[in-house]
Amino acid sequence: MSRRRQIYEGKAKILYEGPEPGTIIQYFKDDATAFNAQKKGTIQGKGVINNRISEYVFTRLSHIGIPTHFIKRLNMREQLVRQVEIVPIEVLVRNVAAGSLSKRLGIPEGEPLPHTLIQYCFKDDALGDPLISEEEIACFGWATNEEMQDISSMAIRINDFLSGMFAAVNIRLIDFKLEFGRLWDGDYNRIILADEISPDGCRLWDMTTGEKLDKDRFRRDLGGEEEAYQEVARRLGLLDSDNGPSEVLDLSAHRKLRGK
Ligand code: TMP
Repeated sequence: MSRRRQIYEGKAKILYEGPEPGTIIQYFKDDATAFNAQKKGTIQGKGVINNRISEYVFTRLSHIGIPTHFIKRLNMREQLVRQVEIVPIEVLVRNVAAGSLSKRLGIPEGEPLPHTLIQYCFKDDALGDPLISEEEIACFGWATNEEMQDISSMAIRINDFLSGMFAAVNIRLIDFKLEFGRLWDGDYNRIILADEISPDGCRLWDMTTGEKLDKDRFRRDLGGEEEAYQEVARRLGLLDSDNGPSEVLDLSAHRKLRGK
């Protein structure tokens, strides 16, 4: 394998310099963290599945006109994306009360919200990604008002689309996290969707049974996280269930390749 310059290693991904200027390779790891990395573990095969799910979701979103950083999937664990300047804000979109919202405000998990709620957190691990207001975002210049308009309207469109996409496979989209980036073109920039969309950053419940099909299985020690991620991929048609595991999930082959 050719030597590549590593740009950044995060909790679930590694970023390498891409083949062309302005491109980056996102490598999806199996590492899983929760509670600001106080809890650490691995979810076997997660990187392979998240790479594939995120490719699928970003491609579908681009078809409805959402600009994204995704260019193409390169292999089982890597995708080529556009280099952006990440806006230091995590955008949380919620349809149903769960997680930190339930804990903070005492609203029972599973209670549908009167309307979709968008919240913002400041991306800063040392501070534990605190919840922030739009006034604070403007005050400290983390994003302009114009950028926040673009971000919030894209978040709503993405939520509408993903809620329908998951409902079609009997999954309820409870909440999810988005990240956006600035794509520079000379002195100008525009906001595009970046990072990933996968069961790592979404709450996905089976519509009939309420079973959790996302990273809460890991966060809450419920077990069965590998199977849950695979189930999401299978329902989205990304797993060739008739012909055994497809390239996407041929983990034994992948481990052999890595000499494990
Ligand atoms: P929360 O209930 O813990 O605030 O999470 C809301 C949603 O955002 C949930 O689907 C998980 C996702 N999320 C991340 O992807 N990364 C994070 O660091 C946090 C706090 C949440």
